[in-house]
Amino acid sequence: MATPLAPQLIERLLAAARAAQQHAHAPYSHFRVGAAVLDEQDRVHAGCNVENAAYPLGNCAEAVAIGALVTQGGKRVRAIAIVGDGESLVPPCGACRQRLRELADDDIPILVGDRERLRSTFTLGQLLPHSFGPENLKP
Ligand code: THU
Repeated sequence: MATPLAPQLIERLLAAARAAQQHAHAPYSHFRVGAAVLDEQDRVHAGCNVENAAYPLGNCAEAVAIGALVTQGGKRVRAIAIVGDGESLVPPCGACRQRLRELADDDIPILVGDRERLRSTFTLGQLLPHSFGPENLKP
């Protein structure tokens, strides 16, 4: 079970992710993604995907949002919302699951939605079970 999040925080995150999605730089895939993360001070930090003509250098929306959180002095990710278009859900890619793992607990809600609604909620533990994180580096 995901740690419950107040409905207004869910809406704040989805709204911030949708606003960021509008700025996606996705001229190659045309697949526009927005993400927003909630920090330990209830601040919201958003990001969009930023593609590059050198294709492998593109950044996911989640990575950009996590970078914004860290840049603003955030320490923990308490929740994330991700929005995309189309029929299929846009859950975080494998690399972004690991990026979340660095700053988030297993039970944070990962809210996956679109322009209209929240479509699914997962926990990080569900999406990245038996993971490797900072604690694993301790001797
Ligand atoms: N993308 C994201 O930004 N987040 C995801 O969770 C999945 C994929 C981006 C990367 C790339 O710019 C485009 O979507 C197509 O893969």
